[in-house]
Amino acid sequence: MRLAGKVAVVTGAGQGMGRAIAQRFAQEGATVVAIDVNLEAAQQTLAGTNGLALQVNIADSAAVNAAFDQTMAKLGHVDVLVNNAGVGSVDAFADIPDDTWARVIGVNLTGAFFCARAAVRAMTQTGTRGTVINISSTAAVSGDGPAHYCASKAALMGLTRSMAKELAKAGIRVNTLVPGPTNTPMMQGIPKEWADAIIAGVPMGRMAEPEDIARAALFLASDDAGFVTGQNLAVNGGSAFL
Ligand SMILES: NC(=O)c1ccc[n+]([C@@H]2O[C@H](COP(=O)([O-])OP(=O)(O)OC[C@H]3O[C@@H](n4cnc5c(N)ncnc54)[C@H](O)[C@@H]3O)[C@@H](O)[C@H]2O)c1
Repeated sequence: MRLAGKVAVVTGAGQGMGRAIAQRFAQEGATVVAIDVNLEAAQQTLAGTNGLALQVNIADSAAVNAAFDQTMAKLGHVDVLVNNAGVGSVDAFADIPDDTWARVIGVNLTGAFFCARAAVRAMTQTGTRGTVINISSTAAVSGDGPAHYCASKAALMGLTRSMAKELAKAGIRVNTLVPGPTNTPMMQGIPKEWADAIIAGVPMGRMAEPEDIARAALFLASDDAGFVTGQNLAVNGGSAFL
């Protein structure tokens, strides 16, 4: 029970990595706040736990603030935030429409900022020595992905480092978890030949499972990582070295 007594907010908790992280954290004793645009999916993630499912578009600043206000009113503190919600889009660089650029950056980067800001305000209010985990991607460093996605995921590493330095004195740790290709609905949507090519590039011969990512998130969220801040933790079977 490495998160006993903790309140952990997980965004994009309705499926994939977010669901695995939320369920793992609940097994470790956390009260999980599962945020997703899909309320029913978030509720299914928390079935059998005492968590709180909230329907929120993280790109909406007011909705994010309201969700954290509700969390504080019901649960009294926020100890952990996992900025996991993210979206992709397959576009050739010169064909990226303005609205697609704005949507990908708006969810992956600005949405993560909105959630992190609300979480830090909540932690500061109660003097909680909490932690924030930003979920990036190896695409941030490999460039294997569309420009809006790679740019948003690289920017999260800068967000992490700035937050880590400024908030260290308050005892708030901030790290970036960097998954490689992972077997989630996001990846299950791609053509089989792409998936085969991706797996061929992984020395350990498979994609990550969502539970591989959840175990690393648990480490970063727990006191085991008590002196770890501002870092990239890559979980990718050796497919990239950060
Ligand atoms: N799957 C991979 O191979 C892979 C690799 C590296 C990084 N990532 C990153 O990991 C994270 C999780 O990926 P996944 O594969 O589990 O994705 P997924 O698409 O399977 O699930 C994403 C979840 O986020 C929710 N969501 C999307 N936009 C939202 C918004 N605006 N507000 C609230 N919720 C929203 C969706 O409803 C969904 O439940 C993402 O940030 C993704 O970019 C994924």
